[in-house]
Amino acid sequence: MSTHIGAQPGDIAPVVLMPGDPLRARWIAETFLDDARCYTEVRGMYGFTGTWRGQRVSVQGSGMGQPSLAIYVNELFTEYDVQSVVRVGSCGALTERLAIRDVVIASGACTDSSMNRIAFEGLDYAPVADFGLLRDAAAAADLRDDLEGRVHVGLLFSSDSFYAARPELTARMVDYGVLAVEMEAAALYTLAAKHGRRALAICTVSDHIVTGEETTSQEREQTFAPMVEIALEASLR
Ligand code: ADE
Repeated sequence: MSTHIGAQPGDIAPVVLMPGDPLRARWIAETFLDDARCYTEVRGMYGFTGTWRGQRVSVQGSGMGQPSLAIYVNELFTEYDVQSVVRVGSCGALTERLAIRDVVIASGACTDSSMNRIAFEGLDYAPVADFGLLRDAAAAADLRDDLEGRVHVGLLFSSDSFYAARPELTARMVDYGVLAVEMEAAALYTLAAKHGRRALAICTVSDHIVTGEETTSQEREQTFAPMVEIALEASLR
């Protein structure tokens, strides 16, 4: 096993779906996978492997924020030979172009995290999605009548703060095309680039920073399903 994942080599599939919430990982495994088996319970950060349409796939919780996600993604890439990670998460809409329950497929992610500033000694690095995953997710979303007009491809802002200390700075990002805020995508994209692997983040809008709307937990569950299906279609085609 690795430091934070209690799995043997071979227990984890080459393709991993990654929600922040470990209980969501269990829900995905129970709802979408056949023959799902839990391979780790370390710190309650569950991981499962099963099959979807006959292909092996794993679901691993990441926890909240880039430092937590980076622990799991580093270990998946270096100790379990994982090739693709697709984050399936939630985000807060920053612009009225988006409505609650819309889906954002992240072509790239800005960040206020110091992780890349330290790694690149102050230079800006542009964390971007794997193009093939991005293209296939957008194509899979396009085929869905239930999501018509509700899927956006664009930039996320991966913030280290859920409760923003300087909301006016987040608002400024919108002038530069940022659609929504979440807390993990930039680290995922950067690590995938570093290790030569594929990554994508797909997020459903759970709350609206402009209008103040929020989804209920039941709504979040219902709106989570299309995003998971898009992630499975794109990563296992
Ligand atoms: N994830 C979902 N909503 C969020 C928000 N408002 N800020 C940061 N991450 C989020």
